[in-house]
Amino acid sequence: MTEVLHIPRVGMIGPFEAGRLAYGCWRFAGSSVESATAKIETALEIGANLVDTAAIYGFGAEGLGGAERVLGAVYAQAPALRDRTVLVTKAGIHPPVPYDSRASNLIASCEASLARLGTDVIDVFLIHRPDLLASYDEVAEGLARLRADGKIREAGVSNFSHTQIRALQSKLDFPLVASQPEFSPLAIGPLEDGTLDVAQELGLSVMAWSPLGGGRLTAGHTPEAGTQEARVLAVLEAIASRENVGVDHVALAWVLAHPANVFALIGTQNVARIEASAKAFDVKLSRQDWYDILVAARGAEMP
Ligand SMILES: NC(=O)c1ccc[n+]([C@@H]2O[C@H](COP(=O)([O-])OP(=O)(O)OC[C@H]3O[C@@H](n4cnc5c(N)ncnc54)[C@H](OP(=O)(O)O)[C@@H]3O)[C@@H](O)[C@H]2O)c1
Repeated sequence: MTEVLHIPRVGMIGPFEAGRLAYGCWRFAGSSVESATAKIETALEIGANLVDTAAIYGFGAEGLGGAERVLGAVYAQAPALRDRTVLVTKAGIHPPVPYDSRASNLIASCEASLARLGTDVIDVFLIHRPDLLASYDEVAEGLARLRADGKIREAGVSNFSHTQIRALQSKLDFPLVASQPEFSPLAIGPLEDGTLDVAQELGLSVMAWSPLGGGRLTAGHTPEAGTQEARVLAVLEAIASRENVGVDHVALAWVLAHPANVFALIGTQNVARIEASAKAFDVKLSRQDWYDILVAARGAEMP
């Protein structure tokens, strides 16, 4: 019988247990409190208790924090939702500079996020992108001070290479708990560039951003013939029709089936799609299916 890959429903992010499907708030700004509350409640109903946001999400006329303000309003109206959430936010993107991860800026950014979110602690605080002008000592000092002051519980990184992760970890006397790379059948770099290897080496959870390629791995998307998208969608469609689910659910299953403690950050703003995302756990993805999707993504057989 064909081997079916195990897709766990929950995993650990440092000390926190969270659903492997998680909810991302990048596209959240502009939502009414009622609609934002419905999205968070639906996410929690399918077990997606990790809620990911960032100071930069919803950047606009009011500056940073557009998406955090909406989430803060949701929590203000329904404080129990905060207690049910593993709350992740990020700092360090600073238009137009573009990046600033010096300790003073990380601390100021975290304090502003706490105020906007109406909470007294961030569960997992991530450096959004590597700031090439901040030394690892400076970044580590910022994270260590925030943690010692009880403003963050745990720390991690996003869009860091494996060497950048190791360099930062070497300056900290507590373990990083998360790495957040782009990872999907359209973004397979983490499989080959050391991102998923260092995560397993150091025990980091992996929060995969844009697991549906920002909407390109969905039934509504028509790819150009001969492209990576077209190749991947053709394989996803065959599996989706066999499994009686959507191509998006197969793409999520593919991301979650990797053994590096992967969480998939779904970004849909549609409540029915949030709910349907849980079908990813029903997909019976064989080892052959998984490699077929990878071969389509590579555009070449495995060596
Ligand atoms: N760390 C970073 O640098 C970074 C960067 C980007 C994102 N992120 C995180 O990752 C999260 C997810 O990113 P993402 O929003 O790009 O994720 P995604 O799930 O890959 O894409 C979401 C997009 O796909 C569309 N979509 C989803 N299902 C669909 C379906 N069945 N049919 C048609 N369209 C569908 C959504 O539209 P609808 O809303 O209409 O469903 C939305 O526009 C973000 O919220 C953020 O938390 C992190």
